[in-house]
Amino acid sequence: MTAPPRILLDCDPGIDDAFALLCALKFTGLDAITTVSGNVSINNTTRNARFIMELAGADVPVHRGASAPLEVDGVAADEIHGASGLGKLKTPESARPESNVGAVEAIIDYCAGGDATIVATGPLTNIALAVQQDPTLPERIGHLFWMGGGTEGGNVTERAEFNAWVDPHALDITLRSGIPLTMFGLNLTHQVLMGQPEIDALRSAGTATASMLADFLEFYRENGARHVAGQPMHDPCALLGLTHPDLFETNKSHIVTSTIDDEDRGRTFVNEPQTNVEHYVAVRANAPQVIDLIVQAAIDPTPAA
Ligand code: BDR
Ligand code: CA
Repeated sequence: MTAPPRILLDCDPGIDDAFALLCALKFTGLDAITTVSGNVSINNTTRNARFIMELAGADVPVHRGASAPLEVDGVAADEIHGASGLGKLKTPESARPESNVGAVEAIIDYCAGGDATIVATGPLTNIALAVQQDPTLPERIGHLFWMGGGTEGGNVTERAEFNAWVDPHALDITLRSGIPLTMFGLNLTHQVLMGQPEIDALRSAGTATASMLADFLEFYRENGARHVAGQPMHDPCALLGLTHPDLFETNKSHIVTSTIDDEDRGRTFVNEPQTNVEHYVAVRANAPQVIDLIVQAAIDPTPAA
C-alpha cells in the first residue's frame, strides 16, 4: 500500500472545513494546519482547528495566520457557520496550545524540501503573504488543491464565491504565482450534497466526532446553505480531490480573477489552457462515493489502514 500524501491544510473552520479536517486526518499524513480569517475571525478559526484536533485525538500543530484580507475589509460568514464558526457550539479552549510559529513562516518552512502539497479551504491570504515574503516559494509547491471560485456563478455575489470574493488580491497573487493549482469551485461542490441520510448515519454511529458533526450539519441546513437535496460539502472536495483523484474529473485551463471592487470582484474566469500555466478546474465528482468517504472520516477520523 502506498503511503498517504503528506500535506499542509490551510483553513478557516467553518463547518465544512471541520469535515475537511477530519478527512485530512483519515486520508492524508496531515503535517500542519494553518488558519486564516474567513468564515469567522482568526481567533475563532484557530480555536476551532485546535478543538477539532483534540476531539479527534490528533496532535497536529496549528499555526495562526492572517487576521484580515490583504487589501479589503474582512467579511465573515457567521450566519451560515454560527457565531463561533461551528454552529451553536461555544468552542471550548483546547488543552493543545497553538504553535508559536505563525502560518506564513510555517508555510515557507513546510515547502523548504520542495514538491510540497497544500490544500486550502479558505481565502488565500496566508498563501499570498508567503509568496510575497518569498517569491521563490511557488517553485517548491508541487500542487495546491483549493476550494473556491467556480465556473457558473457565485454564492456571496451573483458571480463570486466566498473564498475568492473575501480576498480577491490574495487569489490574484496565487493564480499568477506559478503555483500548480486545481480549483474545486461551486460548479463542483454543488454536486456533493449531504442531508438527512448523512445526519442519520452520523447520529447512529454515536462517536464523539460524528455526533458533533451531525449537530453542525443540522445547523448548516437551517442557516443559509439551503439546497433542496442537501448541503454542499465544499471543503472536503479539495482534500478528496487530492487523495481520491479517480472520483473527480478535471480540465486543464487558465484561471484569472478580478480585484476591482465591482460586480466581478473575485469572479473566476476560466480560459483556454496555456502551456506555461498549471491550472485545472474540477468539473465532475462521483458524489455518492465522495459523500461516503466524508461520512467515514466524520465517524472515525483515525487514519485508514
Ligand atoms: C466556502 O466558503 C466558506 O463559507 C466555506 O467554508 C467554503 O470554504 C464555500 O463558498
Ligand atoms: Ca472554508
